[in-house]
Amino acid sequence: MSHNTIALNKQRQPLNHLDSVWLFGYGSLIYKTDFAYLDAKPACIYGWQRRFWQGSHDHRGTPEAPGRVLTLVETPGARCAGMAYQVTPDTFEHLDHREKNGYLRVFTPLHWLPSSDNSESGNSGHDETEGVVYLASADNEAYLGPASDAEIAAHIAKSRGPSGPNSEYLLKLAQALRDMNEHDEHVFAIERQLLLLMP
Ligand code: BEZ
Repeated sequence: MSHNTIALNKQRQPLNHLDSVWLFGYGSLIYKTDFAYLDAKPACIYGWQRRFWQGSHDHRGTPEAPGRVLTLVETPGARCAGMAYQVTPDTFEHLDHREKNGYLRVFTPLHWLPSSDNSESGNSGHDETEGVVYLASADNEAYLGPASDAEIAAHIAKSRGPSGPNSEYLLKLAQALRDMNEHDEHVFAIERQLLLLMP
């Protein structure tokens, strides 16, 4: 599959018939919201885990030296916490371009987490809704796959792209998860290794 997924997302998953859509963010979407949204709430998905297994040719690396960014890997019993944003369908014009490097949109059930404002639930009394998530599967050209925590940290330490250093992506994500009181051992173990390598 070509790693530019803009046309494929538009064709596979038209959303324009909907008034609004919940978008689930598990990576940079947690801390970088460069789009308008109607509402935002912490949420989680089950059966998926974050992994730094996707190459980044356009944000945290280059085609010649891709960085390492997140995708989701299907894992029975896993839980992945993030932020959900209620957006209008036109927002996906921007997001499909931002996340064009191998990511396809899929629908998945979202479960609301307690908000810091103590509101009861995220969706008018329901604790679950359907949302859209971007994921990059193993058959996309930019996919890098598994490596040890130390190898991933070393790769991130040396990578940089048009959006800045790859290390910034990891450190901002780890801080955002801490701010949400969420522990993700994959992210935090790589962060610990990265900090050992940083000046
Ligand atoms: C996210 O933050 O949810 C995200 C991660 C990778 C690609 C697209 C979105």
